[in-house]
Amino acid sequence: MSALRSTTELGLSPDYTGKVRDMFDLGDRYLIVATDRISAFDVIMDEVVPGRGVVLNVMTLAWLARFADVPNHLISADVGSFPAPFDRFDAELGGRSVLVRKAERFPVECVVRGYIAGSGWKSYQKDGTVCGYQLPDGLRLADRLPEALFTPSTKAEEGHDENITYEEVVALIGTEYAVALRDLSLRLYGAGAEHAEPHGVILADTKFEFGLIDGQIALIDEVLTPDSSRFWPTQQYIPGEEPPSWDKQILRNHLETLDWNKEPPPPELPSEVLARTSRRYHEVLEILFPAEAARWQKYL
Ligand SMILES: Nc1ncnc2c1ncn2[C@@H]1O[C@H](COP(=O)(O)OP(=O)(O)OP(=O)(O)O)[C@@H](O)[C@H]1O
Ligand SMILES: [Mg+2]
Repeated sequence: MSALRSTTELGLSPDYTGKVRDMFDLGDRYLIVATDRISAFDVIMDEVVPGRGVVLNVMTLAWLARFADVPNHLISADVGSFPAPFDRFDAELGGRSVLVRKAERFPVECVVRGYIAGSGWKSYQKDGTVCGYQLPDGLRLADRLPEALFTPSTKAEEGHDENITYEEVVALIGTEYAVALRDLSLRLYGAGAEHAEPHGVILADTKFEFGLIDGQIALIDEVLTPDSSRFWPTQQYIPGEEPPSWDKQILRNHLETLDWNKEPPPPELPSEVLARTSRRYHEVLEILFPAEAARWQKYL
């Protein structure tokens, strides 16, 4: 395993850097590299979580393979097939990079919630609703919802995403696309939850992104990863309590013990916190997709 903070370390110049991904604009395609950067409270840490980007990317590939009937943006995850100069970096980019078709993104984050947590819980506590859905009284934190709900949010260029109602999605992209994205999101969430369940994992909620490729709706970005989803261990699931999530929780808990104002610059992180966080990411991949974890082992 080689940790990667930025593709600039390889002498490459990304056209766009997100919190996690470095993107190279190749005309009608993107080369997307999932680095080992990690953010918390929207601040990117100085240190990396080794292998995190590989876990996120391999998990996305595993889900895309399961959802073979849904069009997606993937062209290749094989570094040897990438255009020059990227094809020279198998050891550095392998397992964490994909060549994809550029999509015209829908300006909506397609969130699905099967359980109530996070911003959904906050909204419910305020007025008993989530994204315009009236929910039953008396729900506890982390309770399962009577049925999974499509609870979209805006894709904010800056700052936090905001929850919106389904009607607002219709206003943004039109009824036809709104129906299609909602139904597809609910279906994929259901399939994901069904896969996770026998592994002792609850898929509490998730966020999908879709775009148009050649006029067709396609699944893009990351899919059902710990960054885009809440995975809870069934064995430790107790409604009313915050379940231990397979994500940045170790890091967040550590940061909460510090006297840090959650503005840059980030505090220095102990290597032990980074190592435990890294193990946590690897763990959920191995639990959900042991075969894929084995196949990509040399990069993990
Ligand atoms: N095929 C695609 N076509 C166009 N845009 C894409 C495609 N696949 C992914 N993207 C976009 O690429 C970006 C990936 O970058 P990254 O995930 O690092 O940043 P971010 O989404 O801003 O941050 P975060 O995920 O931490 O909120 C996202 O904005 C995503 O919408
Ligand atoms: Mg993202």
